Amino acid sequence: MTLLDTARTARDRAYAPYSGFKVGAAIRAASGTVYAGVNVENAAYPEGTCAEAGAIAAMILGGDTEIAEVAVIADATVPVAPCGGCRQKLAEFGTADVRVTMANMKGAARVMTLAELLPGAFQRDHMDDA
Ligand code: THU
Repeated sequence: MTLLDTARTARDRAYAPYSGFKVGAAIRAASGTVYAGVNVENAAYPEGTCAEAGAIAAMILGGDTEIAEVAVIADATVPVAPCGGCRQKLAEFGTADVRVTMANMKGAARVMTLAELLPGAFQRDHMDDA
């Protein structure tokens, strides 16, 4: 099962009754362990969380902190682009060269690195005292 297969399988369990836009994400950690996540929406719309955020939360709970690879999939017209906030969240745990496979349900896919998705990401080591 590829990382994209894991994201696609997870997507079935997304909770997206408001947008109807189900998203699945999968992260392979540097340890080799794979974590999945889905978007979870809320009646208070801004409280919803993205699939990537769910996968990151699962990864942290699993004891991993280093992202090696990411896949994200939705029934989109084009391979799904992680939102800006998720690009920043992924950059917290992945180096610039981490590959992010973005896909739709029609079989289209696009691969970009984290640096391409978020050039000049704000990072912990940019802060003097952190
Ligand atoms: N969404 C994700 O989960 N990940 C993305 O990369 C793009 C957007 C979700 C958020 C919301 O539940 C729905 O898709 C529509 O924006």
